[in-house]
Amino acid sequence: MGNDKKSKVLETNESVYDGLAERHSKVVCYQSRKGTRDYLWDIIEKIHKNPGGGDLLEVACGSGTFVELAKKWKMASYEGIDISGNMIKVATKSHGSDKIKFYKSSLEDWEDGHKGKYDIIISSSFLHHLYDLDEGLEQIKSMLKPGGIYIGVHEVDNTRVTTRLEKFDLHWAVLMGHGYTGFWDRLRVFLKFMCSGKIFFKEKKSTARLQEDMVDFRLNEKFYLPDEPVIKRLHAKVVPYCFYNYPIFARLKPINNFQMVVMKNDI
Ligand SMILES: C[S@@+](CC[C@H](N)C(=O)[O-])C[C@H]1O[C@@H](n2cnc3c(N)ncnc32)[C@H](O)[C@@H]1O
Repeated sequence: MGNDKKSKVLETNESVYDGLAERHSKVVCYQSRKGTRDYLWDIIEKIHKNPGGGDLLEVACGSGTFVELAKKWKMASYEGIDISGNMIKVATKSHGSDKIKFYKSSLEDWEDGHKGKYDIIISSSFLHHLYDLDEGLEQIKSMLKPGGIYIGVHEVDNTRVTTRLEKFDLHWAVLMGHGYTGFWDRLRVFLKFMCSGKIFFKEKKSTARLQEDMVDFRLNEKFYLPDEPVIKRLHAKVVPYCFYNYPIFARLKPINNFQMVVMKNDI
C-alpha cells in the first residue's frame, strides 16, 4: 500500500511539474533576491570551511533555481536533478554548459551511485513533496562528502502566522499575476500592467490545483520540520528562514516560524 502511494506521489509530481515547467522560472525566482542570497551564503560560510570551488548538487532544481548562485560561489561543478523531464529541458536550454549539467531523475533514483560526491547539496521548496522524508534526508546526507553540507530552503508550515509585510507582499504578487520575483522584475511587470490597461493578468490554467492533495499532501497536514524525529537523528538543524522574500526578518522572528534545514556530514 505504502509503495502504491509512493509511486502515485512520484508520478503526480512528475506530471504536474511537467505542466508547470514553461512558466516556472517566471513564477518562482525569489532566490534572485540579494537578501536571500547573502543569507544563504552567510549560513554556508559559517559551517563549511571552504565552500567555494567544490561540487554542488541541486535536488529538484526545477528550471535551474540555484545555477546563478552556484556560479557566484565559483563552484567547480553544478548538477541539477528533477523528476520532471520538462523542467530539465527548460533548465538545460537556459543554463546548460560543460560545468552545468541537468538530469531527469528523482532523488530516490539518483542517490545510488552518487554517494559521498558533493560538497554542497541545496534544494528549495522540495521536502514537502517527499513521500518518505526520513528516507529522503538520509539519501541526501549519504551523497555529501565528509564535511559537506545540505541546505533545504522550505515553505513555512501551514500553521504559521504570516507577518503583515509578508501578507501584503503575497497579495501584491497574486494581484499582479507574478510570483516571488525580485524588485526589478516587479517593476517591469507593474509597468507592463499599467501600459496594458488590464486589471488582472490572467493565470494560465494548470492541473496543479486538482492534484495538490497528492503533490503537496504534507503541506495539507501539519508539516513542522523541527518536530520531525529525523532532524534530530541526522544531527540536522532547522534555522530561521523567511520564505516570503525577506530573509532578514527571519532573524527577528522566533525560530519555530521558519523551516530551513541545514545538515552537515561530520563523519
Ligand atoms: C515547488 S517546485 C520547486 C522547484 C525549484 N527548486 C524552485 O524552488 O523553484 C518542486 C520541484 O520538485 C520536483 N520534484 C518533486 N518530487 C521530486 C523527487 N522525488 N525527486 C526529484 N524532484 C522532485 C518537481 O518536479 C518540481 O520541479
